[in-house]
This record gives sequence, structure tokens and C-alpha cells, in this order.
Amino acid sequence: MAIRFISAEEAASYINHNDVIGFSGFTPAGSVKATPLAIAERAKSEHANNRPFKVGVITGASTGDSLDGALARAEAVLFRTPYQSNKDLRELINAGKAEYFDTHLSSVGPSIRYGFLGKINWAIIEACDVNENGEIVLTTGVGISPTICKVADRIIIELNHYHPRSLRGIHDIHIQQDPPLRREIPIYKPSDRAGSEIIKVDPSKIVGIVETNLPDEVKGFSKTDDVTDKIGQNVADFLANEMRKGRIPASFLPIQSGVGNIANAVLGALGLNKNIPQFEMYTEVIQDSVISLMKEGRISFASGCSLTVSPDVLKTVYENLDFFRKRLILRPQEISNNPEVARRLGIISINTALEADLYGNVNSTQVMGGKMMNGIGGSGDFTRNAYISIFTCPSVAKGGKISAFVPMATHTDHSEHSVQVLITEQGIADLRSKSPKAKAEEILNNCVHPDYRGILRDYINHAGLDSHTPVALASAFGMHLCFEKTGDMRNVDWTKYGL
Ligand code: COA
Repeated sequence: MAIRFISAEEAASYINHNDVIGFSGFTPAGSVKATPLAIAERAKSEHANNRPFKVGVITGASTGDSLDGALARAEAVLFRTPYQSNKDLRELINAGKAEYFDTHLSSVGPSIRYGFLGKINWAIIEACDVNENGEIVLTTGVGISPTICKVADRIIIELNHYHPRSLRGIHDIHIQQDPPLRREIPIYKPSDRAGSEIIKVDPSKIVGIVETNLPDEVKGFSKTDDVTDKIGQNVADFLANEMRKGRIPASFLPIQSGVGNIANAVLGALGLNKNIPQFEMYTEVIQDSVISLMKEGRISFASGCSLTVSPDVLKTVYENLDFFRKRLILRPQEISNNPEVARRLGIISINTALEADLYGNVNSTQVMGGKMMNGIGGSGDFTRNAYISIFTCPSVAKGGKISAFVPMATHTDHSEHSVQVLITEQGIADLRSKSPKAKAEEILNNCVHPDYRGILRDYINHAGLDSHTPVALASAFGMHLCFEKTGDMRNVDWTKYGL
């Protein structure tokens, strides 16, 4: 194949209304940038001429603004899966203008291969290197790229010179055979390799190469504060205590840490606690705090699906690539988040809840039951298969007007059967081996903000202590209804909500 360089506009001109596109990347890391912007412009001009133009968008996870933001603003999204965190796309989804289904990230690649998502017309992939034999070296995110390159009819490559070609070797591209041929994954510790450094595609499928020189659109993280520091300390204290009691081996276990500001802060605090030995990560997203802890020698190795670090941190990685290459592996999400591997390695999962109920059912995705925040991401992949599953969150949101603990979660991503430990800045609720009533006591006494302890105690006392799980159906959403009406859950008057 002779490599054919094309402009982003030419690439966009090949895309048809209703086409389904699989994009590279996982978070803004490794997401394509120029081509989706050009597709969005194309959509706008088609719409201006009264012609419909929308595309199905499948990715590894969230992406950068040039992809999700631009396509959302152009109202060019036919459907979107499996995860997003873009403000404009979130608004489109919550306005009912884009179909969205969020799903466990480890399942996306296999589901595409099984045909559950229909025909994939295009793979649009960011690479730091590609040759005429169809050998592609990815950049900072692996996601579903190996699968979409395999199944898509045609491929467009964005060759991004911002990322050095010497990234080759940091990826481990291993895709499982599909049932009934599937075998075990040969990963027995986070640093084990199971696959190849590159993706190999049929070169005749590559329509063209769009050259770019653009950084990943990763936003920085919020500064830690007293609340996130305290949550982090509580997580570290809990894990140190588990070690002391012999329930975690002295050599420790690999950590999986979730996405967002809280997860980044918690991991930072964990690294600071000298009662926790140097540890490894088997996780999905490698955020800023992992890199600083690696430099300090607190994290010895990290296996993930993407290097989602802010631009300055990525610069440090690239300037010290020999150091980091020995300590980092980026894998497809069906391997980084694989239930089999998570169970085998005995990972400790630490993810973030929006709200939890008094029995340990966790909502990580839908505000007030129906407004999508981001999606379940990989939190289910890890939580259900963890050695110990932990959820953290501040005990209140919106300056105290919302309690993170409510009588009944308005949506459940992780059920009480999978959630073992809840941790806030107030303390630690260890839910293992406890009945629903005992879980409620543990949560009330240790995690709930003092402003809400009396309110929730009243609910529990009235909800039927003679039942297995104390639930007062007429009042279960009283705190949410009160927030909708008055803007503050602390105003709840239970007599108005059925108690
Ligand atoms: N009701 C309404 N809003 C709430 C809320 C609640 N119960 N709890 C939190 N929020 C709001 C916060 O106020 C904040 O909004 P704001 O920025 O407008 O104030 C927002 O939700 C969360 O932001 P932040 O506090 O900075 O948390 P975060 O960046 O750590 O993100 C999640 C938290 C839950 C949204 C995020 O971790 C997530 O999407 N998780 C699901 C996917 C996942 O776990 N992936 C990891 C798998 S590896």
C-alpha cells in the first residue's frame, strides 16, 4: 500500500449520514481530533442545506471536546455508547436529542465482535506511527481500537506527530478469541504481557492518513481539599488496618482507581500513607497522581487502558520515556478491565459514588434518577470482581444541600451484593458480612454527614425495623422530592412524605 495523505475535510467527505463510526481513544487520551471536527463541520453544512446528517458514535470511553463536544454541538450524534463526560453531549442526551446507552467498558469490544452493535462502517484511529504493511502504533489510549480496526469496513488514521514514535512498546495488544474458542488470559501480575506492540490491519482498508500535531484534550484535575484529603486518608487507614489484620497480604494487592477529581485525590493520599507499602496498579485510567507516585517510588507498576494525564505530566513522561516504559503498559479495555484478570490478581477497587442508600446500593451515573452524568464506565467491571470493593464520595454535595446518603438510591449501578466498603470524609462503613439493617447502622454512624444523621435516623426508625430491609415505600424518595421542591434536602419534613 502506498500511504495516501489526505486532509481531515477529505476524510469527512467519505462519511455518510447514518454511518456508524468506531473512534480510537479512551478518555481524551488517544482520541482522534481533526477528523471528528471536520465531520461536525460537514454535518452543520448538510443541516444548513436541509439534509439529515448524523452518525453513530462508538468509542472506548469518553473523548475530547473535538469529538464529543463538536459532534454534539453540530447535533450530529445518531447514538452514542459506551461512556461520555462532555458537557454539551450530556446536555444533548439529557434533552433526549441523542440516544445513549452506557455499558460496562470491558464488554464493548466483545459486543462489537458478536455483532450486538450492528455493522461498523468506519474505524477512525489516532496513531503515532503507521506503515505500508498496515502496522499501527497507537498513542495514549487503546480502548476498542484493535476490535474496530478488525471489524470496520474502512479505516482512517490520524497520524499525530505530537506523540513520539518511540511510544512503540508501551502497548500490549491482546484480543481474546470469541466463545466457544476463548481461553484464559495469560496475565498473572500487572506487568505481564499477553500480546503485541502494534495493531496489524489489512492495509487495503486504510482510506487515508490525516496528519496532525495536537495534544490530548485532557483537562487538569481540581486541587485536593480538606474533604478529598480526608477521604484519601480514610481509604489508606482502612487498607493499612486490613493488612495489619492479615486480610490483605503483606506484599499488598494491585489497586484499581476510578476516574475524576475524587479518585485522583484519593490515590494521591494513598501514596502518602507510609503504612501502605509500594504497590502496583491494575486499572483502567492512569491519572496524574499515578505518575507522581511512580516518580516517588510509591507505585512500582501500572497497567491501564489509557494515559489520561494533563499536558505537563505527559511531557514529563515523554522526557523520561525510558523510565516510564519499564513501569507502564496500555491494554485494550477488554483486558485492562477484564473480570477474569481482576479476580485472579485480587484487585482492590476504589470508585466514586454520586449517592448510596442506607443498604449500600450505589448510584454512580444518574442524578436524581434520570439525568445522566457520565456512565458506569469500568466501575462495574472492577467492583463485581474485586478482592475488596470500595466506594468513596464526599458525604454531601452542592454545599450540603444534597446528602450522598439517602433512603433509596434513585438508580443503582452497583448493588449491595457487590459493594463492600463505603468511605467518606466522615469515616468508613465496612458492609462485609452484615445484614441490611446492620449496614444501615454502619453507614449512619460512620459515613453520613452530621446534618443528615437525625433525618436518616428518623426514616430508619419509622421504616419498619421488623422487616429484613427497612423501607418505607411512600417516603423512600422524600429527600429527593424535598430537594426538587426547596433546593435543600435538609428541609425534609417526613410527615409530608408519608412517615
Ligand atoms: N446529586 C447531584 N449531584 C451530585 C451528587 C448527587 N448526589 N453527588 C455529586 N454531585 C455532583 C457534584 O456536585 C459535582 O458537580 P459540580 O461540579 O457541578 O459541583 C459532580 O457531581 C461530580 O464532580 P466531582 O465532585 O468533581 O466528582 P468526580 O470528578 O470525582 O466525579 C463521578 C464523580 C461519580 C461523576 C465520576 O467518578 C464518574 O463518572 N463515575 C462513574 C464511572 C466510573 O466510576 N468510572 C471508573 C471506572 S475505572
